[in-house]
Amino acid sequence: MKIKKVELESVAAKPNQYPEEGLVEIALAGRSNVGKSSLINTLINRNNFARTSSQPGKTQTINFYNINGEFRIVDLPGYGYAKVSMADRQRWANMIETYLTSRKSLKEVVLLLDIRHEPGEHDKMMYDWIKSFGYSGYIIATKADKISKGQWQKHAGIIKKKLEVSNTDLIIPFSAAKKLNVDKVWEKLGSILELVE
Ligand code: GTP
Ligand code: MG
Repeated sequence: MKIKKVELESVAAKPNQYPEEGLVEIALAGRSNVGKSSLINTLINRNNFARTSSQPGKTQTINFYNINGEFRIVDLPGYGYAKVSMADRQRWANMIETYLTSRKSLKEVVLLLDIRHEPGEHDKMMYDWIKSFGYSGYIIATKADKISKGQWQKHAGIIKKKLEVSNTDLIIPFSAAKKLNVDKVWEKLGSILELVE
């Protein structure tokens, strides 16, 4: 994918702050700190365009990145971050749910998981939800630089089993830190975009 222009089009907490419907959107879901914003930076080849942090809970709004004026990548706030109040957690859950259930332009929801860990209950709920809405069920297994390449298959197998992923090909090991499998992720995103053109 040739990146010509990237724009942070909207930072939204509620629907009237979303950009206009029309361009295809691919949303990134996953727990706090899994690497959603880092993935966006790697894909667009920029350092900290999407703000990242070693502290979980960095992205607290729905951020719409317009790519080349052709489609949008949507960075969702992470779930599962323990150090926030119940009220904040509820507010975030509502924010994510409202977007996911109401957005017509949303064509795919990709789940990010840390390749090192067995998916947790929130991950399972999210993936079940993604499948129940008829999305393909792509998973990006982040921080793949933290284990050796020889271990990737084994860890993908653990994810596959826990989340009942239909096909291992849906799971893409990825590293923002070492820029591993960037082309592969773009290839998948490209195929999603072609499908809906
Ligand atoms: P929230 O905004 O809190 O939901 O988190 P996020 O999912 O956007 O995570 P973010 O991209 O901010 O990354 C969290 C931390 O993980 C940062 O310290 C990143 O540098 C680190 N990180 C992200 N991707 C990778 C990776 O591929 N490898 C390694 N080693 N670290 C990574
Ligand atoms: Mg983030």
